[in-house]
Amino acid sequence: MTKERLTYLLTGGTGYIGSHTAVEMINNGYEVVIVDNLYNSSDVVVDRIEKITGIRPKFYPYDVRDKDTLRRVFEENSIEGVIHFAGLKSVGESVDRPLDYYRNNLDSTLSLLEIMKEFNVNNFVFSSSATVYGEGNPSPYTEDMPKGNCSNPYGWTKSMIEQILTDAAVANPELSVVLLRYFNPIGAHESGLIGEDPQGIPNNLMPYVSQVAIGRREKLTIFGNDYDTPDGTGERDFIHVVDLAEGHVKAIDYAKSHKGIEVFNLGTGNPYSVLDIVNTFMEVTGAEVKYEFGPRRAGDLAAVWADPSKSEKVLGWKATRDLRKMCEDTWNWQKNNPNGYKK
Ligand code: NAD
Ligand code: WQD
Repeated sequence: MTKERLTYLLTGGTGYIGSHTAVEMINNGYEVVIVDNLYNSSDVVVDRIEKITGIRPKFYPYDVRDKDTLRRVFEENSIEGVIHFAGLKSVGESVDRPLDYYRNNLDSTLSLLEIMKEFNVNNFVFSSSATVYGEGNPSPYTEDMPKGNCSNPYGWTKSMIEQILTDAAVANPELSVVLLRYFNPIGAHESGLIGEDPQGIPNNLMPYVSQVAIGRREKLTIFGNDYDTPDGTGERDFIHVVDLAEGHVKAIDYAKSHKGIEVFNLGTGNPYSVLDIVNTFMEVTGAEVKYEFGPRRAGDLAAVWADPSKSEKVLGWKATRDLRKMCEDTWNWQKNNPNGYKK
């Protein structure tokens, strides 16, 4: 007798984190259905997921905000639960276009929750962010700390969605919600077939570093070398995206057997500085990364890292890939796809 494969809907599943999670889910025996409007991703990703796993996920190029098309997805598939990755995620852009961010990120979540209710689907895993801890909390962040003030509209959408999901879980005792607060995901699948493919000039450190290394950008500007950190540059909790993806598989297991809302940090617990990243990247890859020091970037904190002990204790999850592996896999992806998914 073949074991029944549970079907999970991944909104935003062709994006950076969603695609890596799709691979881990398929490898763990799940059936994956992706809804993504391709605003910030490519449908080539579906081919690549198939190439890695041998299984092609079902793909709908829909907007999650659109309840009519979303309803069709739930009609055509027996969905057990949802991982909601879809959202706009650029901090700087959110300052310039706050309404787009609130509209997209909040509306997509509300549409999804309403359709899930119609179909009595009660397992929800949400892509939240360390950004909800705000400015007042000292690192390492623990899940029981009060949330803080976010420095930008993007962060507020995450904080607000956490509140919406908390209220929804109170109102519906059948609902199981897991809030995953990601720290700084970097790296790529070791096949080099999927990875991070930012459009335009990268906002985040690692894609900028790898684009300098491949010659797409002239040099990196390091935002500040006068922080109160050992080398003066900012420190973050960089986590390999495949470790992060594995955390979702554990979160789904947890959501299946619990009700109510629970929050987990997905980080390594080890802070590394911007200079650590640049130096390790050059050492591991042999590529040169030219850089200069510039002023601090508005809204940046000196040092941010997780206390991941709750995830280890409750989910049985722990990040295992080190910084060298993160750099190696980033470079493998970048070398094999110098222009990302563009053919
Ligand atoms: P991504 O942009 O690569 O993936 C998000 C995907 O959502 C994209 O493919 C985009 O096309 C899709 N999308 C956006 N709005 C949509 C809509 N209305 N309908 C359908 N599809 C839509 O980003 P990512 O890095 O993979 O991030 C995934 C999630 O994790 C996001 O919610 C992001 O805010 C959150 N997150 C990311 C990071 C990070 O550093 N990458 C950190 C913390 C949290
Ligand atoms: C890391 C470090 C920069 C670029 C952001 C969001 C957060 C989460 C992850 C979604 C900082 C420095 C960067 C560059 C640099 N996303 N840097 N030169 O700011 O920690 O987090 O992405 O939820 O919400 O805020 O990540 O990669 O932008 O920066 O010196 O060109 O690298 O100053 O110290 P950040 P990042």
